[in-house]
Amino acid sequence: MPDDETTLFRQSWTLYDALSEKNYMFHREIYACVAAVLKERHDRGFESLLDLGCGNARFLAPCLLGSPPDRYEGIDLSAAALDEARGYLKGLAQFTLHQADMLEAMEGRQDQVDVIFTGYAVHHLNFEAKQRLFHACARALKPGGLFLMVDVVREEGQSREAYLEGYLGTMRTQWTEVQPAHLDEACAHVAAFDFPETLSDLTQMAKEAGLSQTRLLQRHAQHHVMVFER
Ligand SMILES: C[S@@+](CC[C@H](N)C(=O)[O-])C[C@H]1O[C@@H](n2cnc3c(N)ncnc32)[C@H](O)[C@@H]1O
Repeated sequence: MPDDETTLFRQSWTLYDALSEKNYMFHREIYACVAAVLKERHDRGFESLLDLGCGNARFLAPCLLGSPPDRYEGIDLSAAALDEARGYLKGLAQFTLHQADMLEAMEGRQDQVDVIFTGYAVHHLNFEAKQRLFHACARALKPGGLFLMVDVVREEGQSREAYLEGYLGTMRTQWTEVQPAHLDEACAHVAAFDFPETLSDLTQMAKEAGLSQTRLLQRHAQHHVMVFER
């Protein structure tokens, strides 16, 4: 099978897990923010959450255990990641995991949920697929529902090439606790499969899809927490 945006996660899930463990992508700060959003939502009543590109749900699981929805659904293409997710999510009363493409799953979906979450997954889609995903997510949210997105974002006016130069430079100089061969693998993945958008393009996509309110909750270098509300 040729390489694609999930090769790293199918073959070397443990590499991504090791990188997030070192907090190079600010998982700790970012998921503390996600936990606060979910807690606030939980206090107002929170039935269902859909997690697009859930991976092993290692960082979201503790947030969910603190503010449990009645139903959690995770979608990911990686069987290895989903196998691990079962362990991390076992404290939840109800969870369902689907091995599927998130865009296909969302475009075929009938049910509505309170919150759609996605962590570091949407930047793998191209511009048009992201636009379609926003439309599908807007349709799949109940009125007042939230689309909570953690992802890497380009600066306004910055080209993808300039973004990659900066991000790969940071990886090479600051991700110092990764073995050289693993760092090469991670850099090759980013160079081939990361297509981040600017915040204004994401805001525009959300608006066109009917998600009229966008808020930037946190940013740590290129890593952003955004919420789009229906
Ligand atoms: C960087 S990991 C993020 C995992 C976790 N959400 C987090 O925040 O740490 C990205 C995940 O998105 C999944 N993914 C990428 N493209 C996808 C797609 N089109 N449909 C479903 N999952 C996808 C990958 O398999 C991988 O598990």
